[in-house]
Amino acid sequence: MLEEWPIVFKEMFRTARSGLPRGALAGLVAIGLGLAAAQGAPDQVAVPTLASLQALYRRPAAIPFPAANPYSDAKLRLGQALFFDPRLSRSNATSCASCHNPALGWEDGLRRARGDHANTLRRASPTILNLAWAEPLMWDGRKDSLEDQALGPVTDAGEMNQPLDELVAELGAVPGYRRMFGEAFGQEQVTGEGIAAALATF
Ligand code: HEC
Repeated sequence: MLEEWPIVFKEMFRTARSGLPRGALAGLVAIGLGLAAAQGAPDQVAVPTLASLQALYRRPAAIPFPAANPYSDAKLRLGQALFFDPRLSRSNATSCASCHNPALGWEDGLRRARGDHANTLRRASPTILNLAWAEPLMWDGRKDSLEDQALGPVTDAGEMNQPLDELVAELGAVPGYRRMFGEAFGQEQVTGEGIAAALATF
């Protein structure tokens, strides 16, 4: 019944006061409003319990990996090294972490991102937390997978501005990277696909 909604909200606020973070409260209210709006006939409103809401937001048991790019520890280590390596940019000063900084929630805290030659990008760097579950990617949804996305910022003139063939040659000259590519992909050779796959795994 419609009259019951104030009770539901009161219950949510009570629960929230007893220790839920503010974000969770906003989420609960949004769900409440969403449910209310979705129900044309007030008689059919199902009152969510705290347990049912918690079930909805339970942390998944495992991280999903695509069949074409299965997980391995070696790939994770390589991806991590690449992510924090400024050699991925033309100036050798910008890494993925410049814009997706773990200390700043895996974004940069700026209103709009700053590129490799101190240029301002059109958009803000989003966090890249929990993206294994997210699709599509980017503010405009133009990328379907992390594998598909990873080389975009490397070669983009405004972001890291690094042509892929030059990067493959640059990293290929580093014995440590050749060894890590060997451990991750079975061949001690730096490739563009390997860079993308390892970054996506990380
Ligand atoms: C110069 C800043 C900058 C650098 C460097 C950068 N990014 Fe980004 N990143 C952005 C911005 C801005 C967006 C959003 C772009 C858009 O939506 O059009 C983004 C989006 C993303 C997304 C999609 C996030 C989502 O929620 O859809 C992923 C994944 C990502 N970046 C990973 C990386 C990786 C991996 C690297 C290193 C190879 C990297 N980024 C380097 C600024 C940067």
